Amino acid sequence: MTNLQIRPLEPPPGSSVDFGAEIAPCDLAGLNDEDFEALSRAVLTYHVVVIRGQDRLTPRQQYELTRRFDPTVQTYGHGHDKDLLKKSVLVQDLLSIPEVPQVQLIGNGEVENHQGVARATLKHPSHQTFHHQPLSAEQEQLDFTRFYRWHIDAALYKLQPPKVTTLLALQVPESRPQTVLYDDGSGDTLSVPLAATAFVSGSRAFRDLTPEQQHFALRTQVRYAPHPYVWIKRARAHATGLGLVSEGKELPRAELPPYREDEILSLPLVWVNPLTGEHALQAHACCVEQLITDGVALTDLDACRRIIYELMRPGIAPTKVYAHPWRPGDLVIFNNHGVWHSVVGALRVEDRRVYHQCNLASNQPPLGPTVVSAQSRAASLIPSAM
Ligand SMILES: [Fe+2]
Repeated sequence: MTNLQIRPLEPPPGSSVDFGAEIAPCDLAGLNDEDFEALSRAVLTYHVVVIRGQDRLTPRQQYELTRRFDPTVQTYGHGHDKDLLKKSVLVQDLLSIPEVPQVQLIGNGEVENHQGVARATLKHPSHQTFHHQPLSAEQEQLDFTRFYRWHIDAALYKLQPPKVTTLLALQVPESRPQTVLYDDGSGDTLSVPLAATAFVSGSRAFRDLTPEQQHFALRTQVRYAPHPYVWIKRARAHATGLGLVSEGKELPRAELPPYREDEILSLPLVWVNPLTGEHALQAHACCVEQLITDGVALTDLDACRRIIYELMRPGIAPTKVYAHPWRPGDLVIFNNHGVWHSVVGALRVEDRRVYHQCNLASNQPPLGPTVVSAQSRAASLIPSAM
């Protein structure tokens, strides 16, 4: 019997979000095995778990808590090769805490004497540097914004995707509402709190596919480019933040840092929840290079991107997005094998945001659908009259 008080999040009016839970404030650094087990089950069941009042959780404690979900690992999700990260699109996002380099300091504005960091200027990711056609300055002034980049937390080369990410809010800018514009011709918009983190469910995305799309997804592996975040550093994203526009800007192999063929990652397009058995559509649309279906590789990058976009775009429909309204002290633990996420928001210099983020590269690949489940899924597609 656990002492944790877990309750599902109530979706706001008009939302059809079917994931998320809040756990009453508790001592996360001192959870007994029974309570940790309950927490672990909650993360696999609800995918995004919020625990408030954690502002005193130290970087070391956050690392240890994160590691409890995958106890045999200790490498930060993107590795510790600073030279490589400097060459990639992640360079602005990652500054590690010196004593616990698995924990990153992220946010917006100046910090001084923070957990061994003497001084740093943090910069909230802005879609202006990443989207193909960014918003105008006037639109940003009017508090319109975009999803920056839908993703799962993963290096996608050499290292396996972390099972969970923990994200601790220490300082949060004073909230004002902003409106995400999808700008893809759909007319979709979403009202979000300033600098929210947006989540969608990979299981919902899979469930909402047509049976034919599910059948395709179950038989497909995604092959990611070597050093994908370096590979895409000149490329630009769709206005939805979901994948890249194909205009030949990816770095040629000769310009990539050295890599080994056997360390290139191919991952299933559908990941299986080890607790519930649910299937989740999980891909990092920006980093996809090939799709391999029934062992046959589709190497036309633009075609791969179109297929992935078509599969994933319904998953980020406004009613399916949970945009977490951060308060200082919030710790969010999310199932990185079951959700996709994106930051949103256009911050001004004075909007101070200080967060600690931790995730650890797993030493196991995500669980793919078994041949049996793919076959039974295929069998279920056969019309009942046959
Ligand atoms: Fe992330």
